[in-house]
Amino acid sequence: MTRSFLNNVILFIVLLSCIITVTQSIKVAVLATGGPEDLGFNYQVNQAKVNAEKALNLREVYYFSDIPIPESKEFIYNLCESGYNLIIVSTLDYLSGAREAAKAYPNVQFLLRGSGATSSNIQSVTYNFISANYVTGYFAGLMTKSKIIGYVTPGPPASSNYAAHAFYVGAKNSNPDIESMYFYSTGSWLNPEISAGAANSLLSDYGVDVIGQTQDDMSVQIEAVDRGYIGIGTNGFNQKEVFGDKIALSYVLDWTSVFVDLIQKNIDHPDGNYTKTNYYGDWDNSFLTYTHSRSLDPQVKSILDEIILNFTAVPKAMAPFFCNDYNKYTFSATYLTGAELNCISQARFQNMSDPYPGMTWLGNYTIPITLKEVPKTFTRAFTATSGALILLALILEAVIYINKDKPIIRSASPIFCILIIMGGIIVYASIILWTVSPTTATCNARYWLVSIGFTTLIGSMVVKNFRIWLIFDNPELKTIKITNYQLFPWVAGLLVINALLVAIITASGDLKMVEVMGIDDLTKYQYMQVCKMNNSGAIALYILLAYFALLLLVGVFVSWKIRIVDIAEFNESKPIANTLYAISFSLFVIVSLVVSPQYYLDQQMILCIAGLFMATAALGILFVPKLYGLATRGSSTEQLFSMKKSSIASSRSSASKNSSNPDSGDSGKSSHNPHNYYKKSTNNVLAEFTDESISDQEDESNDLPIENTNSNRV
Ligand SMILES: *[C@@H]1O[C@H](CO)[C@@H](O)[C@H](O)[C@H]1NC(C)=O
Ligand SMILES: *[C@@H]1O[C@H](CO)[C@@H](O)[C@H](O)[C@H]1NC(C)=O
Ligand SMILES: *[C@@H]1O[C@H](CO)[C@@H](O)[C@H](O)[C@H]1NC(C)=O
Ligand SMILES: *[C@@H]1O[C@H](CO)[C@@H](O)[C@H](O)[C@H]1NC(C)=O
Repeated sequence: MTRSFLNNVILFIVLLSCIITVTQSIKVAVLATGGPEDLGFNYQVNQAKVNAEKALNLREVYYFSDIPIPESKEFIYNLCESGYNLIIVSTLDYLSGAREAAKAYPNVQFLLRGSGATSSNIQSVTYNFISANYVTGYFAGLMTKSKIIGYVTPGPPASSNYAAHAFYVGAKNSNPDIESMYFYSTGSWLNPEISAGAANSLLSDYGVDVIGQTQDDMSVQIEAVDRGYIGIGTNGFNQKEVFGDKIALSYVLDWTSVFVDLIQKNIDHPDGNYTKTNYYGDWDNSFLTYTHSRSLDPQVKSILDEIILNFTAVPKAMAPFFCNDYNKYTFSATYLTGAELNCISQARFQNMSDPYPGMTWLGNYTIPITLKEVPKTFTRAFTATSGALILLALILEAVIYINKDKPIIRSASPIFCILIIMGGIIVYASIILWTVSPTTATCNARYWLVSIGFTTLIGSMVVKNFRIWLIFDNPELKTIKITNYQLFPWVAGLLVINALLVAIITASGDLKMVEVMGIDDLTKYQYMQVCKMNNSGAIALYILLAYFALLLLVGVFVSWKIRIVDIAEFNESKPIANTLYAISFSLFVIVSLVVSPQYYLDQQMILCIAGLFMATAALGILFVPKLYGLATRGSSTEQLFSMKKSSIASSRSSASKNSSNPDSGDSGKSSHNPHNYYKKSTNNVLAEFTDESISDQEDESNDLPIENTNSNRV
């Protein structure tokens, strides 16, 4: 659509300029499949246009390209309508439209690509492609050291393989020792991935050291040159200008003389009354030439010049490419002409696809589909980080265990601390699984571990503080005994719910590793392994997420409830709140990032970073202050132990009067709290709480760690 619009715009501009310069005697259109930037066929066509403009001092020669084939007929009709005298169609693609236009507009002259017969207003142009391939093959025969050569051709149905045959005959004629020639077809004129892959295969799997090609681009030769082999320019452009001396030989098509001659005739005879020609580019006119690298052996050059000169010595039908001994193995005697020469006709030659003896057709080259692994750096970075964090967590476990009798740890229920850290370790371990190449087993293990880890971490935290809440938020302040053993079933229950949901994901969610193509920045020939689940799995996953959200909500509620607890060791409301904020914040970021379109790998990375962050933030916020307390207040504990509970209680009451103190922290908050009965009876409550939480140490229950910001100030 846009293209045809563009064409219309171009046409409009052309029409406008036509009206302005009516005095111009000739107006020429050059039609090509692509722009001149291909450094190949179209570049050469445009170069001829530019040269002709210069030579004949023309002002109205226009180059049109990228016309969609179905629109080409209409396009050419439009050109005819808008006063063009000469239309040059350099590609076979627009041929049928051009032929119809030529019939409809007999006063417009046409030069068409191909070898069709002339008519009153049609001439044609083609060049000796077979000979060009014969010469490059001859050159390959002189250059090969392995005696094995290769070729890359579009192959049927795009074209028959005759260019490969011409190349082979040339090579054999120059070097009878050539053992074999392998050739691939690519199925098209232009598919750099396929043709480069074919060249790569020829060079590495078949011992080929010189490759010929029929492809629009230079991908085959670039592959050869990159590996230190010689390159041959085979698309009509002087490839030396791009690749320098790495291209040992290029055949060059120069359309200039044809363009100049044709346009000159049309200027001289605007009525088109002149003898029509079928232009044929060959070595004996300036159309087909070759360039070579500076390092080319002069002897090789003189041999090439000699065979090119020798072409002129025999009629074309007797040319060495049409007349060779391989024909008698390929064709029945009735097709062979030229006495003992074993010649075949050009039409028969150009129709050939089956290889000559000594040639091996390897068929269509197909690029093997390869697995794109998870990047090693990704796996390594996360494994190293998770490993280091696991180590730190284990050290933390040890520190907690060793100091389990220190008041600051005791009041925080060491057994739950150990559980919380265990949860963190499980999360870290799951992150490692999340970054390695997935299998169905690790896909499942990922979900099991990460969810069990977080349930253990958050669940223990919530249950532990639930106990604090129950003990403190107790209007009658009667003695409540809640032991660890009474609490474990709650944690276990949370884990069971978690396990059920993941079991659904695993079982009916059909969570497994699948191989997918066409995602991320995969090429057409790569696939990736990802974990996939079906819809019921996704629903179970959403329920699992909702379950986590609920757990977090309960956690927030409990931490809000225990904010009034006046003893810092028990009042973990702030760290818990901070932990939950950190997790909720991460969840928001994750959800928005994961929901928006993402590369799969980026998504995994976001999830892994978020997992590490959430677990580490939780452990850090909860335990760094405790470690700090252990390190700095270890000596002051004795003094605290010896403090009379009553004096602490009274100090707390006095502190609550100084509620304007900006440093009062948690206790400051509590001082706003109307529930003064906490303060009055803290003494009582503490004794009960500690008795139960550290149930096996009845005798120490009186030496409670009572410590908060206010009591420190006393
Ligand atoms: C090669 O590929 C082309 C285009 O994809 C196809 O039409 C042709 O049949 C293939 N030839 C062989 C021998 O597989
Ligand atoms: C074309 O030119 C030739 C000789 O120059 C002349 O004999 C012939 O009549 C011309 N034909 C037309 C149609 O003008
Ligand atoms: C060129 O032709 C001559 C005469 O037929 C022959 O002797 C010579 O070998 C040919 N040169 C090559 C390179 O084929
Ligand atoms: C071209 O070759 C095919 C088989 O490869 C054959 O069927 C067809 O008749 C040939 N055409 C000509 C013009 O020789």
